Amino acid sequence: MDGNGRWAKERGLPRSEGHMRGAEAIERIVETAADMGIRYLTLYAFSEENWNRPSEEVSALMLLLRHYLASKREKMVKEGIRFTAIGDISTLSADLQNEIRTTAEATKDCARTTLIVALSYGARQEICRAASKLASDGVRDITPEMFSKALFTAGIPDPDLLIRTSGEYRISNFLLWQLAYAEFYFTNTLWPDFDKIELTKAIDEYQGRERRFGMISEQIK
Ligand code: FPP
Repeated sequence: MDGNGRWAKERGLPRSEGHMRGAEAIERIVETAADMGIRYLTLYAFSEENWNRPSEEVSALMLLLRHYLASKREKMVKEGIRFTAIGDISTLSADLQNEIRTTAEATKDCARTTLIVALSYGARQEICRAASKLASDGVRDITPEMFSKALFTAGIPDPDLLIRTSGEYRISNFLLWQLAYAEFYFTNTLWPDFDKIELTKAIDEYQGRERRFGMISEQIK
């Protein structure tokens, strides 16, 4: 969800204002995704590397997250949005961990769309953690299926489409394992301006792609 800072800067506003507008964009996109029948939506909200940002920005983001979960929980339940978080949640404040647990519990039976928020998330760290877990369980001859089950995303299908906003062309340590066969879509639009029209454009482009999974066209027709 890149571009919050630049969105604010262009308007002479503090970066935190950009994040606030970014959170509003999240609400719109979650609703739109659910209406479109998208079953899983993962948002990269805070990476492990984001801890290195100025402390005021980190605090503002953490506060925004807590506020978002507390204020949108009821709406998520009403709209059938199941909430879950991935990442090293233990590094978050006790208050935020509590909001995460309460929201996950309140929405656990919601079945329209699953909203996965990556918090204090890093894909390399996730992969090392999974490898350590399998090793400490004494597992040998690891298969991709077994490895997938040891990741934070166990039970969640791999993404079909990755969208990156604000003209950046990097993965930035996001879902490195899970994106193996995802389609990538890049847009110059800054995250706070990302809306239903933008999401529809991304989905339309995705639908025009031919996904061959290593095979040839004739095999998948
Ligand atoms: C990237 O833009 C955005 C982030 C690092 C934070 C995204 C998080 C939120 C919007 C908080 C709310 C989240 C939820 C799930 C309620 P940037 O700051 O890197 O922008 P820039 O590249 O323009 O500087």
